[in-house]
Formats: sequence, C-alpha cells, structure tokens
Amino acid sequence: MDDPKRCRAVSLPVIEAPVETPEQIAELRSEIRELSRARNAVILAHNYQRPEVQDAADFVGDSLGLSRQAAQTPAKVIVFAGVHFMAETAAILSPGKRVLLPDLRAGCSLADTITADDVRRWRERFPGYVAVGYVNTTAEVKAELDFCCTSGNVLDVIDAVPANEGILFLPDYFLGCHVRRMRPQRRVEVWEGVCHVHEGIRADAVNAVRARYPDAEVLVHPECGCAGRLINSIGLGELDAQGLHIASTGGMIQLVRERPATRFIVATEVGIVHRMKQAAPGKQFIPADSGAVCAYMKTITLRGVRDALAMDRHHVTVPPGVAARARRAIARMVALG
Ligand code: 13P
Ligand code: SF4
Repeated sequence: MDDPKRCRAVSLPVIEAPVETPEQIAELRSEIRELSRARNAVILAHNYQRPEVQDAADFVGDSLGLSRQAAQTPAKVIVFAGVHFMAETAAILSPGKRVLLPDLRAGCSLADTITADDVRRWRERFPGYVAVGYVNTTAEVKAELDFCCTSGNVLDVIDAVPANEGILFLPDYFLGCHVRRMRPQRRVEVWEGVCHVHEGIRADAVNAVRARYPDAEVLVHPECGCAGRLINSIGLGELDAQGLHIASTGGMIQLVRERPATRFIVATEVGIVHRMKQAAPGKQFIPADSGAVCAYMKTITLRGVRDALAMDRHHVTVPPGVAARARRAIARMVALG
C-alpha cells in the first residue's frame, strides 16, 4: 500500500557544512540583532532550520505557527528562514510588509508536484468538490483552493467542510491517506505528491530503532511514508500503537514537553531535534533516519540571514490578484483557530 505515483525527480541544492566558528556565530548574531532593530524586522524560522539560525530567530515554529506570526507581527520587514512557499504565505498575509527569503534556492519538492493548471483540471473532473490544499503549495496553487491547511490543523479544516461535500486533497499523498483513515466517512480524493525527505523515512527503519530503544515513544510526521504503513500495521495488530504519536512539527514539540517519556524516536526532518533539546532538556531524541535532511531548508545560513537584512535582498512578492484569491483560502484556515 501507499506507493504514490506522482513522485517527481528533484534536483537538490548541495548542503554546505557550517563554516563559522562560535565567535563568528556570536558576531553574526549581534549584527543580525542590530540590523533587525534598525529595520524594524522580525526573523521567523521553521523547526527544520539549522541550529544557529533557529537560535537567532525571534520565533521558531511549524508552518501554521509561523503563518500566524507573519499575520500578527507589527514589524515592517519579515525575514523568513524557511522555504519559498512559506515566505509567499507571509507576503500574502502581510501585504504591507517586506518579506525577505535569505536564499532563493529554498524550494520544496512537495510544492513542486502540483501546478495551478493541475488543480483547475482536477476540479473540472470533480465538479462540486471542495479543494483543500496543504500550505506546501505555491501562491498560484493556493489561489485555486477553497481552504488551506497544515499538518497541525488538517482534520479541523476537513471537519469545517460540510459533511455531504466531496474533498480534493492536495498535494501530499501521505497526509491525504492520514485524512482518509481518520475520517473514513468522508469522500476524499488524494493528489499523489510526496516530499522526498519524508518519503524516504521507511517503516522498517523506524522499527529497527524501536527495537533498540523499546522504552522510547515514537513521533511520526503525517507526511512520512512510514505513517501510512505504521497506521496500517496498527490496524492489522502487527504494531503496538502504545507510545506512537502522529503529529505536526509543532505538535511534536508539545509532546516532548508534556509526555513523561524520557526518550523519543523522531520520524521527521532531523533539524527539529535541536528545538526538541531546548524544549525538553534532559530527554533523549533519536532520529528514525539520520539521513532525513531537507536540502532546501539547509540553504538558509546565518550569513544569508544577515545579508538579506543588510542588502535588503530576495524580496518575495505575489501578484495582487493571485494574493487576494490565495488569501481567502489561507484566511479560512487561520480563522479556524
Ligand atoms: P509542519 O507543517 O509540520 O511545520 O511541516 C512543514 C513541512 O514542510 C514539512 O516538511
Ligand atoms: Fe518541502 Fe519536504 Fe523540505 Fe518540508 S521537508 S520543506 S515538505 S521538501
């Protein structure tokens, strides 16, 4: 089961190793602080960012949390330490602000699996269906949607669609499978896009780590290839659901804080481990797959953040007509709380 067909080949940026010494990092951070103050800027960083970038940010969070911060901030400039679709979302939600992306190579293999034309054609095939799209989509794709969602609020969004209406869910196949399992009574068509990072985290890798650390709780991102297989295995009685949680990156941070367990197996991009160590010091976090690294996220460096502020570079804009239509879908999601 769960073998998506629309897995497009991706060409990834090369991941550069960090070159800064601790002194240089401290210097860059103080430059960033100065520039931020002078420019009335806020720095938002996703949970998958490099540790030193997370540490220099005003807010670190999941895609939903960062969308909310972007919508609320009184700052004039938003430096988005994340990927391009997230910076576009910030630009859509804050039309009067200047949104800077420190590196234009910060794309997303999942967002690349669907275009606005694809959505229009799909809607023609399923007239009357409500289109719900994950935030990992371009602004043009969002402009074709009825609702936006993130992995943190996907089920709330599905529940907000009237019960008799069919749903087109895009672009993530695994998140779509998660929706189908959690809401089996709903008619849900699922796009077959995948993220190359999460598609690579396999159930057998999770099980092997679990065998080594039987006391550990397992945290699985719903985009994971393994989430679908693990949930199926639970249904078949092959896997104990005890101690296994399916959660967004923000949900995972909450779980490591709140759960009494002291050891967690983390089945998502490994950048989140830095945030987990800060959220729950003294607990142990073991990546299910240490190769689960998003090369797009890692294009953002501390130097890149400093240069974006200093040179006012990589201004992300969305044409006003597209932004207005995309804003409707995002606003419906944000309004659900
Ligand atoms: P979250 O919505 O959980 O932050 O995930 C975003 C993402 O890009 C996952 O790869
Ligand atoms: Fe996109 Fe996957 Fe990277 Fe998330 S981890 S930004 S879905 S490529």
